[in-house]
Amino acid sequence: MSNSNPIANSWGERVKSELAQLDVKTLGSVGVLLGGRSGEREISLMSGNGVLEALLSKGVDAHAFDPGLRSPTELASEKFDRIFISLHGRYGEDGTIQGLLELLNLPYTGSGVLASALSIDKIATKQIWLSNGLSTPDFEELTSSSDWDSVVEHLGLPLIVKPAHEGSSLGLTKVKSVEELPAAYQLAAGLDKKVIAETCIIGDELTCPLVGQGNSAEALPVIKIIPPQANYDFHHKYFSNETEYLCPTGYLDNVNIAIQELALASYRALGCRTWGRADVMLDQKTGKPYLLEMNTSPGMTSHSLVPMAAKAAGVEYADLVLWVLSQTLLGAGSASI
Ligand SMILES: Nc1ncnc2c1ncn2[C@@H]1O[C@H](COP(=O)(O)OP(=O)(O)O)[C@@H](O)[C@H]1O
Ligand SMILES: [Mg+2]
Repeated sequence: MSNSNPIANSWGERVKSELAQLDVKTLGSVGVLLGGRSGEREISLMSGNGVLEALLSKGVDAHAFDPGLRSPTELASEKFDRIFISLHGRYGEDGTIQGLLELLNLPYTGSGVLASALSIDKIATKQIWLSNGLSTPDFEELTSSSDWDSVVEHLGLPLIVKPAHEGSSLGLTKVKSVEELPAAYQLAAGLDKKVIAETCIIGDELTCPLVGQGNSAEALPVIKIIPPQANYDFHHKYFSNETEYLCPTGYLDNVNIAIQELALASYRALGCRTWGRADVMLDQKTGKPYLLEMNTSPGMTSHSLVPMAAKAAGVEYADLVLWVLSQTLLGAGSASI
């Protein structure tokens, strides 16, 4: 990365020096929320167990709490001092658990109520981005009374149909003909009340992690994802060893910087905090990047992307986890939705 890059050159160094001064005892008793009730429960268990192990290895007094097995209201009687949210999807990444933790006055990792609720909703997210002049594929909300021909006319083929609030590519279809559209809608509508159809961007699949908040937020190195047959589905996200990840991407600096700037602007526009990850497609014909979605509780499995970019920036998995948690000491997660 060139020196002209305004983005994230020294984050790794700063993390190391901040952690060198951190006394983990000041973190107190930490609840790691994992599992939960969303379609991404299994992924969250993998993320959360990784996080728990990392915190324990750093000497943090950390304890698992699974709001899929226990009522989240029991958090009120646990004696936690702060919370690491390792939940993905609904009831974990969508502002609801964040709202409960606000009410309990328990500092928690990551984005607040509003940024979480906006980011879980792919349509609300895109409306915020468009109002900030940020590029994202054309889209429509689908309903059972949508006119399939006019959807195809508007968005072209192939197009993508997906639930607005799911993650991990659940319920997602790449539609290649108008005849496939009703079934794709039914599949997505089975998982979510809100369904989105989007123009399919053909090109490279990228993701860019973001750290920090507001004007001091920064972008980490971009990762290029090369799934087999260009199909980055549930299996190829978490389990397959056939997916290839490039970090650095191999692009020229100006390409990386354009992607980082777009991702950073998308993170700031949503008001995200501490960490997040913007998924981006790079149009192979025009070279233009398009924002797909913002993840506010990024995966922390062995195949996960934020740890990969953090490593490229010089920060190992356990240090990343501890740094994210340590941000709750700075007032994040208290009375700031
Ligand atoms: N508009 C699109 N154009 C091209 N590929 C897409 C598009 N939308 C989704 N995809 C593909 O599906 C994957 C999952 O979509 P995404 O919007 O990131 O939702 P989630 O990860 O929450 O399931 C993307 O990583 C990409 O491979
Ligand atoms: Mg995604």
